[in-house]
Amino acid sequence: MKNTLLIALCIIVSACSNKYAKVINAEADYHIIPKPTSLKISEGRFLLDKNTVITAETALENEGQYLSEMLSTISGKSIPFSKETQGNILLKLDETIENNEGYTLSVSYNQITITGKTSAGVFYGIQTLSQLIPLPATASNTQTEVSIPATSIVDSPKFVYRGMHLDVARHFFPVSFVKKYIDILAMHKMNTFHWHLTEDQGWRIEIKKYPKLTSIGSIRKETIVGHGNTWNKPDVKYDGKPYGGFYTQEDIKEVVAYAETRHITIIPEIELPGHSLAAITAYPELGNTGEQYEVGKRWGVFPEIYAPSEETFKFLEDVLTEVIALFPSKLIHIGGDEAPKKQWEASKLAQDIIKREGLKDEHELQSYFIRRIEKFLNSKGRNIIGWDEILEGGLAPNATVMSWRGEKGGIQAAKMHHNVVMTPTRFCYFDFYQTKDRTNEPLAIGGNTSVEQVYSYNPLPKELTKEEQKYILGAQANVWTEYIKTPEQVEYMVLPRLTALSEVVWSSYETKDWNDFQTRLIHLTKRYEALGLNYAKHSLEIKTEK
Ligand code: ACM
Repeated sequence: MKNTLLIALCIIVSACSNKYAKVINAEADYHIIPKPTSLKISEGRFLLDKNTVITAETALENEGQYLSEMLSTISGKSIPFSKETQGNILLKLDETIENNEGYTLSVSYNQITITGKTSAGVFYGIQTLSQLIPLPATASNTQTEVSIPATSIVDSPKFVYRGMHLDVARHFFPVSFVKKYIDILAMHKMNTFHWHLTEDQGWRIEIKKYPKLTSIGSIRKETIVGHGNTWNKPDVKYDGKPYGGFYTQEDIKEVVAYAETRHITIIPEIELPGHSLAAITAYPELGNTGEQYEVGKRWGVFPEIYAPSEETFKFLEDVLTEVIALFPSKLIHIGGDEAPKKQWEASKLAQDIIKREGLKDEHELQSYFIRRIEKFLNSKGRNIIGWDEILEGGLAPNATVMSWRGEKGGIQAAKMHHNVVMTPTRFCYFDFYQTKDRTNEPLAIGGNTSVEQVYSYNPLPKELTKEEQKYILGAQANVWTEYIKTPEQVEYMVLPRLTALSEVVWSSYETKDWNDFQTRLIHLTKRYEALGLNYAKHSLEIKTEK
């Protein structure tokens, strides 16, 4: 009893003597994106100082280290992580939290506690905490004391799949940028990175059994200049410069390990049967004509697709065997989009298979092709995900559908009780222009997807019943890079649209409020700047463009 009184007295005395205990915080101190499920504003602030220590159980060592680095950088002080000392920042697991990625965050003047059902939940709590920290000191604004406003937050995501894609084939991006991209995703509580690794214009992943995929398939002789829709016009121009790049398997391992520490699953995409000109250039026997092609040097869809031969299946199974050894993801993306059937129409081999298998047409042949790949991947404990064209000719039994040509494919698949990821062009194509006025915009593929348009998106179509809506795993935005040549431009195309998408996939649709989001977004852009991120500033000025 005596002890309890003494402790209580000590707390009161320290609260009274601590100038941070009773600070009244402003609402503006709590601008968080994506918006948490619930947030209480409290009195007091937690000061980061030389006595601050982070403690976490062994299972949360990664999160402890991550937070230690983050806080040390921001405060300019060493904020250590210790498994032994009882610190005043505590990371904990709690089985009773319902959502696998859910967390609670409590900040008072003398204690921060982040509790997650899993380490992922704790990691998201850390991301929220990072947005509560006032911006780091800059040369012109030297902060001597960094303090965090008191709060009590309970939060969990709406969707289990929160994805961003990056095409590294049309233009190649180095490992250092891929890691930065992963950090941008993590900051927004996104949990999936769809890595588009193979294309007509370049094969970007080392496959040991087929070295020509990279020695030949990763390099195009030159690249079309200007907009791709000029390619069949007489005045088409090419730049005359070889372009290439690929990731070694060591690079891939490094990126996968990095993503894991940020709770991001990487889904690799190996395109088939179309978008495979680079592979067919490296190994012409995989094509339908045996012709020696060249790696694609213009954009758009190419007629060359894999032959449905046993040799191709052997090749693809070998490639996928190496791919799944590198990527722990349950889902493997097998493309399936934009595969013109002209070459199969003209191929004796393809027509013989159609007859032999009793297939109706080339669409059913594509379905046969994809089912075989699915069977192989299922036998290795993996599932396929493919663009919505995989519905044509019959959907493979366990496939997840990525609906990009609007939501129609996704709706159809959900009604068939297949999992779906929504990525309709109108809301989720971040290679589109961000504003209607294109005078000051870098060249883009076309279309128009404003931040507000992204923010307005609801991935759950009204056409589906509540039961059917359960098959919608979430949404993803795609970043096709025909016209995006540098990391800075990727950032420009992605920010702030990704920030809007993060709220679409994390927060409740019912509480969405565009004006409130804009206020928080403007606040977050200061953080982009502090982190050295390039973003489309003017896109914020255009408030109600559709
Ligand atoms: C796609 O945009 N071709 C999936």
